[in-house]
Amino acid sequence: MNQAPKTVAATRHPTKKMLRALAGERQQRPPVWLMRQAGRYLPEYRELRAKAKGFLDLCYTPDFAVEATLQPIRRFGFDAAILFSDILVVPHALGQKVWFEEGHGPRLEALEQPGDLARLSKNRLHGALAPVYETVRRLSRELPAETTLIGFAGAPWTVASYMLEGGSSKDFAAGKRWAYGLPEGMQSLIDLLVEATGDYLIAQIDAGAEVVQIFDSWAGVWPERHLRRWCLEPTRALVGRIKVERPGVPVIVFPRGAGLLYQTYAEACGADALGLDTTVPLGWAQQVLQPRICVQGNLDPQLLVVGGQALRQGVAEILSLLGGGPFVFNLGHGIVPETPPEHVAEMLAQIRAWHG
Ligand code: CP3
Repeated sequence: MNQAPKTVAATRHPTKKMLRALAGERQQRPPVWLMRQAGRYLPEYRELRAKAKGFLDLCYTPDFAVEATLQPIRRFGFDAAILFSDILVVPHALGQKVWFEEGHGPRLEALEQPGDLARLSKNRLHGALAPVYETVRRLSRELPAETTLIGFAGAPWTVASYMLEGGSSKDFAAGKRWAYGLPEGMQSLIDLLVEATGDYLIAQIDAGAEVVQIFDSWAGVWPERHLRRWCLEPTRALVGRIKVERPGVPVIVFPRGAGLLYQTYAEACGADALGLDTTVPLGWAQQVLQPRICVQGNLDPQLLVVGGQALRQGVAEILSLLGGGPFVFNLGHGIVPETPPEHVAEMLAQIRAWHG
């Protein structure tokens, strides 16, 4: 074991707040960062965005991506920085057409039948994603010493949903028709994504990511049996591979909408922390989840838009119920573009003044 990778030694006695929480330590004041903390609610992001040719150009140009990652750190001093990129760089690197249309969100050339999977290949994965790894390397040099660098990827199902629908969806009809009617095709796609996403996260870790988060934003659309097969199982396989190949690197899983199955995730997915969505009851999380695992979350992003007393009450409830155990303060889903940055500053002042 004296050949253990550097990351194990680094996390055994972590000094950074974020790493200590993920190691299961309860702290006087919890670490805080926000999902989608870089983005359109910041005027400096909108300015940077106008300089890039498109959103993917922003993700694939290290100068831009480093700057976008650092903007919220400079402004707010969050305890963690999340790599600026997107979950859809993986299908793009596998050879699928991906583009972002102003006002329409992501668009992809949808896979229509299992035969279309032949168009995808892992051969060019690391070549296509090399600029992302360069961004991670630069960030690990440039971030303040107390700030933890988080790498990320989408979970296989959430990424597959975009690949099958050709973009965002309300009913996930294409994904469900594959899962229910063409389960072998669906399994091949999920298996490919488990492999490619594992390769991608391990390369981010090797470039300097200290923690990785797996976003399963659309876990909550399935009947139980299918949630277990298409969300829990592939996520467990992915976490298991990271734990074997890069032991000591904490993994956060965000199975948004998993409901009662959050308990199964806590027991079985192998992660170090679970990202709670906004609907997870705080008392239940405290009693059922937190004794087993560090939790992260779960302020409603709309409270951050409204601000004032409603925001103060939401923050206070979360701190008093979850601040007594291993905990990372965050939102229950990504920050929305309408958020006034001053509300973020007010929220942080309240968290920093809190002593549990
Ligand atoms: O600050 C950060 O959190 C890091 C960067 C980040 C982005 N996307 C940047 C982005 C992260 C972690 C993501 C994750 C992501 N991307 C998810 C999972 C989390 C979630 O919110 O559920 C998903 C589902 C996507 C796919 C995606 N990318 C959609 C649906 C959209 C359009 C909606 C939107 O907010 O515009 C994007 C675009 C996107 N990803 C933007 C940013 C900053 C906005 C694009 C722009 O500037 O034009």
